[in-house]
Amino acid sequence: MMLRDVSSCNTYNYGDALYWDSRYVQEAGSFDWYQRYSALRPFVRHYVSTSSRVLMVGCGNAVMSEDMVKDGYEEIVNVDISTVAIDMMRRKYEDVPQMKCMVPEKFLNSDLETFFQFW
Ligand SMILES: C[S@@+](CC[C@H](N)C(=O)[O-])C[C@H]1O[C@@H](n2cnc3c(N)ncnc32)[C@H](O)[C@@H]1O
Repeated sequence: MMLRDVSSCNTYNYGDALYWDSRYVQEAGSFDWYQRYSALRPFVRHYVSTSSRVLMVGCGNAVMSEDMVKDGYEEIVNVDISTVAIDMMRRKYEDVPQMKCMVPEKFLNSDLETFFQFW
């Protein structure tokens, strides 16, 4: 049986903020890793009402949240460990009141009332 040599895989970097910072510096713009919202929409709309508060964990620079706002979602908090990604997202969506962008520490340190609105 052929086994894949995983010794050269760097998947451990995926939890490293500095890894993502350097990727987002090199790859400015936007990219949706899995699917665009149009493909996921039937499932998202089925399970998540547009009045729900949405917590988008690991948002990166994907346009999924933007497309959800265009589709009627009223409040999306985008969280990512990469400050580069969050700075890009914050600048891009500064005039979109439905979108908030922050690093996890900021979200976890938000006042209790804000925090528990999500749970
Ligand atoms: C593969 S990208 C996916 C980005 C986006 N969700 C998409 O579908 O295109 C993974 C993202 O998760 C972020 N990430 C990794 N670990 C995280 C953590 N512990 N908390 C928040 N974000 C994290 C990375 O910075 C990166 O932006």
